[in-house]
Amino acid sequence: MTHQFDFLVLGSGVAGLTYALRVARHGSVAIITKKERAESNTNYAQGGVAAVLSQADSADLHMRDTLLAGRGLCREEAVRKMVKEGPARIRELVELGADFTRDGDEFDLAREGGHSVSRIVHAKDMTGREIERTLLDAVSSTSNITVFENHIAVDLLTAHQAEDEEIRFRSRLQCWGAYVLNTGAARVDLFLAKVVMLSTGGSGQVYLHTTNPVIATGDGIAMAYRAGARVANMEFIQFHPTTLFGSGSPSFLISEALRGFGALLRRQDGSEFMSGYDAQASLAPRDVVAYAIDHELKKRGEEFVLLDMTHLPAPDIRRRFPHIYETCRSRFRIDIASEPIPVVPGAHYCCGGVETDLMGRTNIRGLYAAGEVSMTGVHGANRLASNSLLEALVFSASAASDSICFQEDQSDRIPRMKPWDDSGTLDSEEWVLLSHDRKEIQQLMWDYVGIVRSDARLRRASRRIHLIREEIEQFYKRTRVVDELVQLRNLALCADLIIACSGRRKESRGLFRNTDYPERNDLRFGSDTYIDEETTGALLV
Ligand code: SIN
Repeated sequence: MTHQFDFLVLGSGVAGLTYALRVARHGSVAIITKKERAESNTNYAQGGVAAVLSQADSADLHMRDTLLAGRGLCREEAVRKMVKEGPARIRELVELGADFTRDGDEFDLAREGGHSVSRIVHAKDMTGREIERTLLDAVSSTSNITVFENHIAVDLLTAHQAEDEEIRFRSRLQCWGAYVLNTGAARVDLFLAKVVMLSTGGSGQVYLHTTNPVIATGDGIAMAYRAGARVANMEFIQFHPTTLFGSGSPSFLISEALRGFGALLRRQDGSEFMSGYDAQASLAPRDVVAYAIDHELKKRGEEFVLLDMTHLPAPDIRRRFPHIYETCRSRFRIDIASEPIPVVPGAHYCCGGVETDLMGRTNIRGLYAAGEVSMTGVHGANRLASNSLLEALVFSASAASDSICFQEDQSDRIPRMKPWDDSGTLDSEEWVLLSHDRKEIQQLMWDYVGIVRSDARLRRASRRIHLIREEIEQFYKRTRVVDELVQLRNLALCADLIIACSGRRKESRGLFRNTDYPERNDLRFGSDTYIDEETTGALLV
């Protein structure tokens, strides 16, 4: 079956929905989402959105904090754009109906690690959910937008999939849509569009312990990479310092906003340790805090540290963090107001991704990217807390403006594309292999490609992931496609990209630490790590 729209949006988090609402005034829009529309990484964001909204703050200060956290790898012009345009995007959300927490007439601005002032706009401790609700309400009342739930994009359509041989050999890279699996109908459809927006989120499921939901399988990064997009900086995986120990999969996030509110990190014996690592102590940027916790755990052979807020007034804790308070109490039997919370770091955010310019354009014509899937350059080697929703809001809006012009300029018709060909494939009875491979990838990434890496660990991970990928590709070629297989293939490729990028960075910087190269080396490695299809196979460790 073939569908045709003016704009095709892959993913239904903050970036995809913001983009869809903006372009819908200029054409028909399809949003493809793997599960129900609200299931996105955005929905799980607790802390908030950083933005300059008070007299005590300035764009220069927000920019300085972001650059400092990014450890020399942020693109200044991208940071400047995000910081300047951010406040307007927040006000637009409020106009759409977002109910952010107020202090009188003003926003109640919270503090988080690495921020020199309070600048986090939040909706108690459920900010992502409130933003997602607001945007979905607006999408539901926009007639030009059709949401396809339980649909997953399998691959992007470029010249390679054109029926016409002449177009197939045309060198210019351009995207015209995607093959999309309708999971209910077990059928792969053609979705054609002049513009495609990638807003598929991150790849946290590559790791055994992650705050990301099961849908975060790096689909956009993998599809774009296979289509020839430039992917960069995949070695910079942010581990959130505080996820609830033993909370299962995904790990339950204990927001950084708790530390902004006064919570302190302690060893199990009650002693505070962060002041030994950084002058900002528990409010240091995430790379420092996650590393310090990891170091303490390894040094002491313990499984968790404690996040203590028992010295703070209980009514204030319950009012400010109702979701965390209630979840800890009812699901995990912990009263966070009267007992310290056992926490461990968990994979949280991918700072690398599909490279874009300031307008969200990738190197493939007609293909845009925004949100966690993208690498705009704002996060550098370590994302500043609460800059992710901000980045998604700002760059998806710019991508929308640019794609409206791009779409209007496209006078050529979309070439005829080959329909999905599954001849020769069979239904497999070996589905157990899929869950086994997924677990194996998650375990090996956790063991060898975690907070602290080394050449030997990366070599071992590289050998294993290549073998796993080879097996998955064989399985993929002979099996009728299902969503688990699509995601596993993407997950394995993302793992390989993370390992390959890690192997190239012979230094330690921000979120990336290699014990063989403990120092930062600006002279040789003060730039982004690019990766392309020809070089991933050959890991140079
Ligand atoms: C948190 O609430 O700690 C997560 C927010 C973020 O990742 O910026």
